[in-house]
Amino acid sequence: MSDTTLRFDTLEALRARVDAWRQGGDRIVLVPTMGALHAGHLALVAHAKAIGRRAVVSIFVNPTQFGPNEDFARYPRDTETDLGLLSRAGADAAWLPSVETMYPSGFSTRIEPGPAAEGLCGAVRPGHFSGVATVVTKLINQVRPDVALFGEKDFQQLQVIRSVVRDLDLAVTIEGVPTLRETDGLALSSRNRYLDPRERAIAPRLHAVLADMAGRLAHGAEAAPLVAEGIAVLEAAGFGPVQYLEVRDAHTLAPVARVEREARVLVAAYLGRTRLIDNVAVVPV
Ligand code: PAF
Repeated sequence: MSDTTLRFDTLEALRARVDAWRQGGDRIVLVPTMGALHAGHLALVAHAKAIGRRAVVSIFVNPTQFGPNEDFARYPRDTETDLGLLSRAGADAAWLPSVETMYPSGFSTRIEPGPAAEGLCGAVRPGHFSGVATVVTKLINQVRPDVALFGEKDFQQLQVIRSVVRDLDLAVTIEGVPTLRETDGLALSSRNRYLDPRERAIAPRLHAVLADMAGRLAHGAEAAPLVAEGIAVLEAAGFGPVQYLEVRDAHTLAPVARVEREARVLVAAYLGRTRLIDNVAVVPV
C-alpha cells in the first residue's frame, strides 16, 4: 500500500505517470469523485486496490452537472483533508484538474445521454446527466483506466454512464459498488454534512421507507399504492418536497407496476435545504 498519494494538477504530468504504470503492466482503476470524501469513497478506493494495481482518484466539483439553483457554490471542498484520506487508503494518484483544464476557453462539446437519463433525477435536474456524461467521458479519456468505479447510491448515474460507455465504445469496464450506510441505514453522502442534528435524526427514514417497500414489492405487492403510502410517510416525517419515489427495472430503468425481475426503488427528497437520494434493490422471491 502506498503511504503517499501522488498529486497531479496538470494533464501532462498525470498522463506521463499513468502511461508509465500501464507500460509496466499495471492495471489502472479510476475512482471519479467530487471530493468531500467519506467512507463510501474510501470503500471504492479499497475495491480499486483489490481489483487493480493502481488506484487513480479524481477530485473535481464539476460545474456543468449543477443547475443554476443548486449547491455548486456551497458544495464542500477540502482538498488537503481528502488527500490525507486518500494516502491512508492507499490511493496511488489524485487527479485534481482545475475548471480551466476541464473546460478551457472555447470548450463547446456536450454528450447527451439517451433514455437512461430520462425521468427520476433527469426530470428534476435538467442537463445534469449531460454534465455527468461529459465530465466522466473526459476523465476516462484522460486517465484511460482499465476499470472505472461508481457507487450504486447514484444508481441512475451508473446506468447513464454504462450506456455512454457502451454507445461510444469507450475502452473501459464500468463497475458499480454497493452503497455504504451508517448503522441507522442512512446512505453515506458528501451532502449529509449539510444536515443539522434534527434533520440527521430524521434522515434514516428515507432508507427505512425504501427497505419496507422493497420487502413488500419482492412478495408481489403492487407498486402504486406503496409509492403513495411511502410519500405520505416521508412527508409526515418532515421530508418535502419528495421529488420522486419510483419503482424501476434494475437494468432498463423502465417503470414497473409489479416486480417480476430485479428492480430498484429510488427516491429523491428534500430534508430542509438538503436534497437526499437513495435506492434499494428489489429481488422477487
Ligand atoms: O458521483 C459523483 O461524484 C459525480 O457525479 C461524478 C461521477 C464524479 C462526476 O462528476
